[in-house]
Amino acid sequence: MNIIITKDNQELSEKACGIIEKQVNDKPDSVLGLATGGSPLGTYKQLINGCQERSVNYENVSTLNLDEYIGLDKNDPQSYHFFMKKHLFDHINIRPENTYIPNGKAVNLGDECERYEQLIDDIGPPDLQLLGIGQNGHIGFNEPGTSFQSETHIIELEESTRRANARFFDSLDKVPKQAITMGIQSILKSEKIVIIASGERKADAIRSLLEDEPDENMPASALRAHKHVTLIVDEAAYQKAGH
Ligand code: F6R
Repeated sequence: MNIIITKDNQELSEKACGIIEKQVNDKPDSVLGLATGGSPLGTYKQLINGCQERSVNYENVSTLNLDEYIGLDKNDPQSYHFFMKKHLFDHINIRPENTYIPNGKAVNLGDECERYEQLIDDIGPPDLQLLGIGQNGHIGFNEPGTSFQSETHIIELEESTRRANARFFDSLDKVPKQAITMGIQSILKSEKIVIIASGERKADAIRSLLEDEPDENMPASALRAHKHVTLIVDEAAYQKAGH
């Protein structure tokens, strides 16, 4: 695993942006795997600047998002569809029809999981997958105990995940209990993976990712089997991890 330690979240975001922009410049029809949540916000700001000020071109780029809450409409401000438009897609020259996110309102969720996994194979797999990491080590919404062989599936969110994400909702009881997520096997199909972690609250997960044996109780540890992973971590998440 390639490890980049940064001073703070700003530098982390610049580094992640630099890697994504290089990917897009080197291969203009790249497929990018994207994440939501707090971690990628700074990176997305930088990507928007790059598109608007440095003419990085997303006209032929496609994106596949990791996950979506079950039961939220695309226009719900808390949905990941809404998040991606607000924080990235509406501000760069990507074609909306080239952006893919699981449908959390599908009538048949089992079929939706199969459809999305097929999309990953047909459109992707991503040339570059951007990941955050949960405090419990989840990647995508693959909670501890998820099989490393898993493909796109429905997951019950852990209480700790719901509590961590309650900051985006009016109250904890509004946070959905289930999500559709790319599986661990689906994520590992990507050519390259960049995982970002910032702040002390991620330190335990980062320590475990770097030091413990791969274990399904620590979903991110599956990344150890991938040939091209870059971890970008700020000092707060790394030093507290005991390095
Ligand atoms: C989001 C996702 C999750 C988050 C993780 C960290 O699409 O897949 O794995 O990356 O929950 O969330 P933040 O960045 O909000 O700490």
